[in-house]
Amino acid sequence: MSERKRVFSGIQPTGEAHLGNYLGVFRRWAQMVDDYECFYCIVDLHATTREYERPDLVRRVFDLTVSLIASGIDPERCTLFVQSHVPQHTELTWLFNVVTPVGDLQRMTQYKEKSAAVDSVNAGLLNYPVLQAADILLYLADFVPVGEDQRQHLELSRDVARKWNARFGELFPEPETLTGSGSRVIGLDGVAKMSKSMDNTLPIVAEPDEMWKLVRTAVTDPARVRKNDPGNPHVCNVFALHEFFTDDGRREDIEIRCQTAEIGCVDCKRLLNDNIVEQLAPVREKAAELTANPGTVLEILDAGADRARAEAERTMSVVCERMGVGREALHSSLRELAGASP
Ligand code: TRP
Repeated sequence: MSERKRVFSGIQPTGEAHLGNYLGVFRRWAQMVDDYECFYCIVDLHATTREYERPDLVRRVFDLTVSLIASGIDPERCTLFVQSHVPQHTELTWLFNVVTPVGDLQRMTQYKEKSAAVDSVNAGLLNYPVLQAADILLYLADFVPVGEDQRQHLELSRDVARKWNARFGELFPEPETLTGSGSRVIGLDGVAKMSKSMDNTLPIVAEPDEMWKLVRTAVTDPARVRKNDPGNPHVCNVFALHEFFTDDGRREDIEIRCQTAEIGCVDCKRLLNDNIVEQLAPVREKAAELTANPGTVLEILDAGADRARAEAERTMSVVCERMGVGREALHSSLRELAGASP
């Protein structure tokens, strides 16, 4: 038996993977396999709660798998799988629904925001956090590495675990948020967190000229209007991105030359672009290789789902037995009854 603590995390297949994902999430996931037994899940069922087109969804699941592996998440050292390939996620969601107060779901900040933004609110949007609790608790996970925006959902997962345990007997650990998370990356607008919905992202996998078209649009120090105005690197998002892609010595050089107006914003962006393109070259190559061999990607996901399913079945057999549902629960009760009769 492994002594390592368990980690579960999920990511929605919505849109092309970007540098915010890479720096904030993927690199961290890749490292965590050293210290934890990790389950990483592409949560396609969560993604169905918003409007989507079928071809986009399947394509995004595939592309996200490719991006995760290309970014260094080694499927041999963790369990990487797609949520809908393990039907126990939805099964446990139903069973958790009956211990979850509707009021708690209606109070979720994300629910309030998302439901305010659509004309008709589907029940999936309300029950979204119950599915998330099922994701985590199915694997009896100890830790969940997520950002601040998921704090409330994690709290709900702990409430669900506590309520279920109180009613049906101790089983689920209360999962803790693993903070000290990856880096928070600001988008091209220089204001909001890099996010597909804000349309301010840099993709992970882009050809150099495509990357440049985007990098050159990045907002810099707003006070620096003309090239010979001195710049303030500490309020400049392009400089902030250099933090990730440019070594200390060269970055200090850029810092000074920006402050003394020896280097203009376009040059500074050029340097950034070159470094991004160079550092992500291995990711780009690996992604191209996987995309050209979709069979390999499918095999990886099949193997991941098999491993996840084995764990999920173990948990579900206890859950069903304790809740008195499923064939086994009926059989074992009938055997007891037969044994008790004279
Ligand atoms: N709700 C999470 C998000 O939008 C995704 C998610 C689904 C998740 N299930 C999870 C994250 C389980 C951590 C654990 O980012």
